[in-house]
Amino acid sequence: MTTTCVIRDVNRHVGEEVRIGGWLHNKRSSGKIQFLQLRDGTGFIQGVVVKSEVPEEVWEAAKSLTQESSLYFTGIVREEPRSKSGYEMTVTGVEIIQLTEDYPITPKEHGVDFLMDHRHLWLRAPRQRAILTIRAEIIRAVQQFFDEHGFTLVDPPILTPSSCEGTTELFHTKYFEEDAFLTQSGQLYMEAAAMALNKVYSFGPTFRAEKSKTRRHLIEFWMIEPEMAFVDHEENLRVQEQFVAHIVQSVLKNCRAELDTLGRDVSKLEKVTAPFPRITYDEAIQFLQEQGHDIPWGEDFGAPHETAIAEKYETPVFITHYPTSIKAFYMKPDPNRPEVVLCADMIAPEGYGEIIGGSQRIDDPELMEERFREHELSDEAYQWYLDLRKYGSVPHSGFGLGLERTVAWICGLEHVRETIPFPRLLYRLYP
Ligand code: 4AD
Ligand code: MG
Repeated sequence: MTTTCVIRDVNRHVGEEVRIGGWLHNKRSSGKIQFLQLRDGTGFIQGVVVKSEVPEEVWEAAKSLTQESSLYFTGIVREEPRSKSGYEMTVTGVEIIQLTEDYPITPKEHGVDFLMDHRHLWLRAPRQRAILTIRAEIIRAVQQFFDEHGFTLVDPPILTPSSCEGTTELFHTKYFEEDAFLTQSGQLYMEAAAMALNKVYSFGPTFRAEKSKTRRHLIEFWMIEPEMAFVDHEENLRVQEQFVAHIVQSVLKNCRAELDTLGRDVSKLEKVTAPFPRITYDEAIQFLQEQGHDIPWGEDFGAPHETAIAEKYETPVFITHYPTSIKAFYMKPDPNRPEVVLCADMIAPEGYGEIIGGSQRIDDPELMEERFREHELSDEAYQWYLDLRKYGSVPHSGFGLGLERTVAWICGLEHVRETIPFPRLLYRLYP
C-alpha cells in the first residue's frame, strides 16, 4: 500500500513506497535516467527515474515536466549519504497536475527589482524558504522565552489617535470623522497592560512613514514589545541579553539545515551568549572621536557609527544613557545626571545595527506633564497615559525588538527586504 507523506517525513518511510504532492524545482537527464529535483514546501528530494524500470508513460510524463510544474509523484524512499538531505527516491509514478509554461524565475541570475516584482514566486526559492523558516523559528523562540518567564501576551491596537515615537513618521488615515494613525509602537498601551498583568509582551505589526531607503528600514515591520512592572533599567538589560541569546541558540539548535542553505557562518552565532558588553553613550562618543569620526556629544548615531562600535565585540553590545534631548519623551532621566536617560539600544554584531530600543519609563506624574509640554503633546490625547502615573505608579521598563533586523542578522542577509514575506519598502507596495 502507498502512503501519502511530505518530504520532511521521508526518513520514516525508508524502503517503502510513498506518494507526495509537489513541484518540479529542476531536472537533468542522461538519456536513460532522469534526475528530478522535487520540492513540496517542506523540503527537497531528488527523484530518480530509470527508463528501463518504469512504464513508458511514466518516463514520458517525467520528461515533459517543466520548472514549477505541479504533480503527485510516487516512489521508493532510499537512504543516500551523498545527497544533502540523506535521502533519495526511486520514482515509480508521475501524475501531472499542471504543466507550467515559461516560469519567470529561471536558474540564471536575476536583478533584485525583477525578483521583488515576482516576490510571490520568488518565495519558492530554497534560500527564501530557509529565511522564512528561520523567521518562524525566531517567533517560536520569542513566545517560548516569554511563556517560560511569566509574561502574558497582550495585543495593543493598530489604529491609534496619537503617536508614540514622534509625529513625523505617522501614517495618517480617517477613522470615520476623526483622524487616526497606524501604530508606530504598542508601548504606551503595553505600559497600561503591565499595570494590570505585571509582565506582558506584544507581538504585532508597526508602521513608520519614514522616507528612509536603507538596508535596515521597512515601512511595515513586526515588533516584539515586553513591558515589566517593578523592573528597573539594570534588570531590563538582563532580560534583553537572555532573551536575545535564547533566540540565537534556538535557531542554532533547530535550523541547522536552513543556516547551511544560507551559507551562514555559525561560529559567529555560537558566540552569542549572555551577558553582553555595555558601554555608555559618552564612552561611545569618545571612542568614535578617537577613531576620527566627526560626531559631537548630543548627536544621534548613524549606521556607520553603530557599525564601528559593534566591530569591537563578538556579541551584541548595549549603548546606554543617551542624551535626554535625542530620545523619546517617556524615558526616565538618570537621577544622578538628568541630561541622560536610563535607556539602552542593543547593537547587533557584524554591522547589522540597532535591533532593540528600550528604557526605564518616567513614573512621576509631574515630570511626565512637563515632558508633554516640552514635546508639545496634548494633555487631552495623553490623559489616559498620565493616569498610569496618577493611580498607583510604579517603576517599570520595557523594550522593543525589531523582528526583521533580527532575522537579517541571524540569517546573515544584506538587506531586510528578504526577511519578511512581502516587504513594504519606500516606493514598493506591490505585490
Ligand atoms: O527604537 P524603536 O523606535 O523603539 C520603540 O518603538 C519603542 N517604543 C520600543 C519599546 O520600548 N517598547 O524601535 C524598536 C526596534 C528598533 O531597535 C529596530 O530593531 C526596529 O524596532 N525598527 C525597525 N525595523 C525595521 N524598519 C524600521 N523602519 C524600523 N524602525 C525600528
Ligand atoms: Mg531606536
